[in-house]
Amino acid sequence: MEYQIFVTSAPGLEDITAREITGLDLARGRVETLPGGVEFSGDLETVYRANLLLRTASRVLARLSTFYATDFSELRTKASRLPWERYLRPDQPVSIRATCRESKLYHSDAVIERVLGAIGDRLGASVTLGATADEEADRPAQLAVVRLFKNRCTVSVDASGALLHRRGYRLATAKAPLRETLAAGLVLASGWDGRAPLLDPFCGAGTIPIEATLWARNIAPGKARDFAFMAWPDFTPDVWESTLAAAIAAERPDAPPILASDRDAGAIRAAEANAARAGVADDIAFICQAVSAIAPPPGPGWIVANPPYGVRVSENKDLRNLYAQFGNVLRAQCPGWRVTFLCSSLPLIGQTRLPVETSRVWTNGGLRVRVAQGIVTR
Ligand SMILES: C[S@@+](CC[C@H](N)C(=O)[O-])C[C@H]1O[C@@H](n2cnc3c(N)ncnc32)[C@H](O)[C@@H]1O
Repeated sequence: MEYQIFVTSAPGLEDITAREITGLDLARGRVETLPGGVEFSGDLETVYRANLLLRTASRVLARLSTFYATDFSELRTKASRLPWERYLRPDQPVSIRATCRESKLYHSDAVIERVLGAIGDRLGASVTLGATADEEADRPAQLAVVRLFKNRCTVSVDASGALLHRRGYRLATAKAPLRETLAAGLVLASGWDGRAPLLDPFCGAGTIPIEATLWARNIAPGKARDFAFMAWPDFTPDVWESTLAAAIAAERPDAPPILASDRDAGAIRAAEANAARAGVADDIAFICQAVSAIAPPPGPGWIVANPPYGVRVSENKDLRNLYAQFGNVLRAQCPGWRVTFLCSSLPLIGQTRLPVETSRVWTNGGLRVRVAQGIVTR
């Protein structure tokens, strides 16, 4: 069966996700980058591979159908024709998310009620509504997504379950951890070649160096977790097992030098435990030290980091000093290295006096953040 697949990604990361999709040769035909995600088509194996392999995607939605509906009975009749039995068992709770824009049907709760009824009609049993999908739950209810725009109704099922940043390795956290998908996005945005050294002097719980190592060693980010599609009646275990086996066979044994440091001993302990769970503890040199003490290996290499920042950080003298020091240390220790770091404040970025461009804007924990990128010059 051919699926229209919509992979969602965090605002600003769509082009990176699209590049991943093209690089992995996931799509059959066109790859379309849209606000909030990327659309392409593929088969069931593509749905499995997208979940297993994409590093910057938040979730993978498989579209069931698009149809016109201008009243509730039309919506219920058309939604009941969809092959729900492939994705849901009658005893399984479903959560339905609906958005309505510029449509005759504008009441999203009533849309949800009719689609729930339609699923029951199709499955021949009444279906219960699970709690609205909890983004952070380990095993959320099977999610169906209904979008009405100009009376066109698009119905999709979520193939991922827990959001894809939940790789399973980050059980220990430190202060202000970065989502794994954003950390992977930062590594990919940096243009790191996967061969030169990589350094994160503010590593916290280790998310950036771990994601960098997973990428450099071609380790599938989703290999240790479950996905919603595994509970579908339509699930084909042998296709999944061969997909997973192919991914594992493509892993590379070694990584280039990857150095991760933080001045907080608790953060380093958390990072080491996370790296061990991710299977990359031997690839990363973790050191407890302040940024002023870094001693990079012969380069040039890449610095990829997420230094501390806050909502009102530009008013904070300590942070201004820290960024000034960050710039000074890089000029002294890492001339010619490429630097990519995330920061919410242009004045703080300016404090580094590094020649960086800041056109990429992402959102981290609801805050607009900039990706600052450049080459360190003395
Ligand atoms: C935003 S957090 C990094 C989060 C990390 N990317 C993660 O995913 O867990 C910033 C980190 O910088 C560290 N830090 C603050 N000042 C530092 C300094 N002067 N030298 C080294 N590390 C510092 C903090 O301990 C904190 O772990």
